[in-house]
Amino acid sequence: MGKNIIVIGCQWGDEGKGKIVDLLAERADIIARFQGGANAGHTIIAAGKKFILHLVPSGIIHQGKYCYIGNGVVLDPFGLIEEMEFLKNEGISCAGRLFISSATNLVLPYHKLIDGIEEKKRSGSSIGTTLRGIGPAYKDKVDRCGIRFCDLFNQQRLQEKLELQKKLKAEYFDKSDDIRANIEIVYRDLMKISPIMKPLIADVSYELEKHKKEGKSILFEGAQGAMLDIDLGTYPFTTSSNTTVGGALTGLGIGPKMIDEVVGVVKAYTTRVGSGPFPTELTNEIGRQLQTIGGEFGATTGRPRRTGWLDMVTLRHACRINGVEKLAITKLDVLDDIDKINICNAYRLNGQLIEQAPLDLGDLWNVEPVYMEFDGWKSSTTGMTKFGDLPANARKYLDYIAHELGAEISLVSTGPGRQETIVV
Ligand code: IMP
Repeated sequence: MGKNIIVIGCQWGDEGKGKIVDLLAERADIIARFQGGANAGHTIIAAGKKFILHLVPSGIIHQGKYCYIGNGVVLDPFGLIEEMEFLKNEGISCAGRLFISSATNLVLPYHKLIDGIEEKKRSGSSIGTTLRGIGPAYKDKVDRCGIRFCDLFNQQRLQEKLELQKKLKAEYFDKSDDIRANIEIVYRDLMKISPIMKPLIADVSYELEKHKKEGKSILFEGAQGAMLDIDLGTYPFTTSSNTTVGGALTGLGIGPKMIDEVVGVVKAYTTRVGSGPFPTELTNEIGRQLQTIGGEFGATTGRPRRTGWLDMVTLRHACRINGVEKLAITKLDVLDDIDKINICNAYRLNGQLIEQAPLDLGDLWNVEPVYMEFDGWKSSTTGMTKFGDLPANARKYLDYIAHELGAEISLVSTGPGRQETIVV
């Protein structure tokens, strides 16, 4: 019986989870997504082709695997259809392989409209969201007025729920001539796609348990990263879901014993898109170098990502709240040309040295990072496949990270392709 593994991002998203999930999916039977929505952008390079997936679990690229979208996800049904079409054109069919929980909340056009309006209202303190309607859709879910996947197949209920939306969101809809505020059009378009969606509906919780009993192995695919978790991240500069392991339990309807191993994905340096504190941010030439060499531009919005040194304080926090036992370190090769590489090992806050994240993560605005300097390796690691072949300084850098986080390194990524990987 294979292991059930969960893949979690340990920073602010964009750690390279797409590639890690793609590699691990080879050994899994089922791949399940449990939170987030089309704010995610998972880049996979397979057979020389680049795939950027936002909603469909990355495992779909592997023929013969089954993919599930859990109730913890917020699903843009129109975006999903586009993605399924894109995959079909690439010769990958989702038919009979992709299933969606009946309880999954939908992201509808008006959520995107509201996302934009609210970001504008926040002005100076905007979150820098992806404008994909994620926050407004989760808000509706918690407010118990969300439109769920099962509503697509109950015409009367859908109509009534959309009528209620009109009343609840009058401040946004009345007087708006934006087509996304037109509930009649939303209803009409949903009715159009309802027959396409019908075969996808599933009781995800029940089916995952059934698969487990049959001895199948499940890969749980996290989106975003631990520091963007709505409860445990740098609130309010977070996304609106639980990006950490707990999110998988509630987001799929599974018990904790379904998960055998937690793999934390850590980029060899740090990036962040959108606003919010980032203690180790580099706004100098090295920061620009990391951005250029690392191709650090958002897969969903194309925005340049902020870049900085690795931050062990936030990583300790991320590993603890997720119970990370195994590490997948990505983009090591991006550091190949850097002379001196820093790792932030502690912060100075109000004159005190702290190694754990402050109680109030808002204090991350006020901390001063304390760095340890590592000699760079100044030679190419691109495409390396054996740990022993890595330059001594690169091994030293990796060993330090694993030791500090109390976890084992199981994968090191040395390039975007599947083969450019060290399996430890
Ligand atoms: P939202 O999830 O679109 O509401 O955006 C909230 C914050 O999370 C913003 O700072 C986004 O840039 C960030 N964010 C959301 N999804 C991702 C992702 O997949 N990678 C990196 N950052 C993300």
